Amino acid sequence: MFGPRKSLGSVTQHAEGQALAKTLSWPHLIALGVGAIVGTGIYTLTGVGAERAGPAVILAFAIAGAVCACAALAYAELATLIPAAGSAYTFSYTALGETLAWIVGWSLILEYSLACSTVAVGWSGYLVGWIQAAGVHLPPELLSGPHGGGIINLPAVLVALSVMGMLVAGTRESATLNIILVVVKLVALGVFVAFALPAFNNANLHPFMPYGFGATEVDGAKRGVMAAAAIVFFAFYGFDAVATSAEEAKNPGRDLTIGIVGSMLVCTLIYMAVAVTAVGALPFQQLANSPEPLALVLRSLGQPTAAHLIALAAVIALPSVILVMMYGQSRIFFTMARDGLLPQALAVVSKRSGAPTRITLVTGVSIAIVAGIFRLDEIAELANAGTLLAFIAVGACLMVLRRRAPEAKRLFRCPQPYLVGTLAILGCVYLLFSLPSATIVRFIIWNLAGLAFYFAYGRRRSALAAG
Ligand code: ALA
Repeated sequence: MFGPRKSLGSVTQHAEGQALAKTLSWPHLIALGVGAIVGTGIYTLTGVGAERAGPAVILAFAIAGAVCACAALAYAELATLIPAAGSAYTFSYTALGETLAWIVGWSLILEYSLACSTVAVGWSGYLVGWIQAAGVHLPPELLSGPHGGGIINLPAVLVALSVMGMLVAGTRESATLNIILVVVKLVALGVFVAFALPAFNNANLHPFMPYGFGATEVDGAKRGVMAAAAIVFFAFYGFDAVATSAEEAKNPGRDLTIGIVGSMLVCTLIYMAVAVTAVGALPFQQLANSPEPLALVLRSLGQPTAAHLIALAAVIALPSVILVMMYGQSRIFFTMARDGLLPQALAVVSKRSGAPTRITLVTGVSIAIVAGIFRLDEIAELANAGTLLAFIAVGACLMVLRRRAPEAKRLFRCPQPYLVGTLAILGCVYLLFSLPSATIVRFIIWNLAGLAFYFAYGRRRSALAAG
């Protein structure tokens, strides 16, 4: 009913010249995970979350983290059962059939590409703030897209293209550089907690839930704990980027489990600590909508040097998020092209680096164009919609494959798979409908366009359907 399915046995077999080199082990993977997870979400969207939920943004982080933990467990089992590039797209191709897999792959384009673009725009904001604080004034037309009265957000374009260049130079070099940037990001968040926690004031947590729990429309904007959770959800994903590198892992069973579950746990703990510290230190109204909420807290507490360091860390390290997400995106495009659903010419692997150069170039340029033109919050919300759909599919794949292939070798077995799978699906559906209506409409239009392309092109050229 939903098109042909890949068999569990064939999914890791590929023609010569179309297999990726096995170069990554678990420290690389955990760094890939944390590198993708910690970014604009915690550095910037904490303020937006506080604006939507009040101090209960802490609860919003916990809810989004719990939903992602269920999805992470499902990912970990599927990534070791199906250690092939493509993540939720490949899982869906095996469990749910080609048509649903296409919809998932098409949604993953939103997740990965728009997350890269979002972080590139956020990075540009920090950089421009820095340069202007030093008294240098740049032409405003080159600092924002048409929505902000400019022509193009040039710094965002340049950072996206630079990261693309690193990926073209080869996976291993990029993963090693990523480890250094991950350390910078984590040390900065540690500095934040160390300096701001002593200022914790219980009075700042009252009232805890000024806008209630469920997402409701107030003055044209959605407010409530779930509205905040639907936004700060952005801060959690990225662990699935580890699953997209399964084909390049040296020892997928051990390395992927540690990489996915480990990076998820580490990040959830860090976020809870940062959120409690931030809303405990300042009344939430002051955090609301700040483009640099963590630096704002430190400055308000009379810690300008620490504030300076946080901002510096963001400028240095946020590109690591772009790096990992762009890596994941190029692998998903690569897999879809190898399957014939996108033009096969894109699925060529470079002999020198073992990386899919051509598709990386296409991905990087597209991300740069979006980052140069569009608005940050709208891109982030659409990225969340795509990710939520992919996570729903992963929860479904976990349960379908447990039923259909209970004996297949699983190097990691998700505990209580039917409960975890169901919670992942229900949690993601709830988050999806807590997004602004305009985002949901855009998401439906994107997928209708995707289906039109599939029926006009991919379905007839599918390598699997051709046998
Ligand atoms: N989780 C990533 C971030 O917060 C996408 O930037």
